[in-house]
Amino acid sequence: MDNRPIGVFDSGVGGLTAARALLRDYPNESIVYFGDTARVPYGNRTKEDITNLSLQDGRFLRTKGVKALLIACNTITCNAGEELAADNPDIPVVGTVDAAAAAAAALTKTGRIGVIATQATVRSGAYETALKALLPGAQVFSQGCPKLVPLIESNHILPGDALIEEAAAEYLAPLKAQGVDVVILGCTHYPLIAQVVSNYMGQDVALVDSGAESAKAIIKTLTETGGLADQDAAAQVDYYCSARLQDFETIAQVFLNKDIHGSATEINIEEF
Ligand code: DGL
Repeated sequence: MDNRPIGVFDSGVGGLTAARALLRDYPNESIVYFGDTARVPYGNRTKEDITNLSLQDGRFLRTKGVKALLIACNTITCNAGEELAADNPDIPVVGTVDAAAAAAAALTKTGRIGVIATQATVRSGAYETALKALLPGAQVFSQGCPKLVPLIESNHILPGDALIEEAAAEYLAPLKAQGVDVVILGCTHYPLIAQVVSNYMGQDVALVDSGAESAKAIIKTLTETGGLADQDAAAQVDYYCSARLQDFETIAQVFLNKDIHGSATEINIEEF
């Protein structure tokens, strides 16, 4: 048993999709969440840049005594997952892609799978590799969606919001034309607009929430390593971001359905 917190991080608010799943399903696990809201988006940066930024994010979380790192960001998982694991050899480091790919492979009936993600995730080819290893006959259609993260970070998330609906339709149209039966929300920001995506794709298309799947994956790892918290542990959740604290708290409140004012702190990530 290990009552230390799990470090959960993302370039911004997207990783809250993983935090939400942990809070809901494993309420005795403590969490330290970090969203790098000063430097978001990561998804249009080079691999080298993403690696340097995310190693700093990991180092910040290590100062909080975390027992594991959950990379609640597909862009970081695909571009810096190995580097983060090498920088933190003493604790489990778990990402999003393997878990989300496994969920999609289990859900698809036709083998036609759509992936929406950032440019850096699509460029890495990580989802194609993972899906084809699980389902050799799979046909994978990937779509980079550079407009979505900035819109979501500015709270354009609800059905009826013209900006997010237009941008989502632009990116989803080619996947709909390909007749996919599963869409992987391959960026942890996108489950915040799951309803918008679902309205466009129709109810016969299943969505995979890469944030929630990554939360299940870290719990599986901690179960195997004996690292779960005690059942009666009093969990503590602390939120950190690197800019725009008010916006962060507002989006977190909508998404987590919980007022987090007072438990969120702004830090200078460049110091780590
Ligand atoms: N939430 C991140 C992901 O899962 C990406 C956001 C960004 O572009 O910074 O890929």
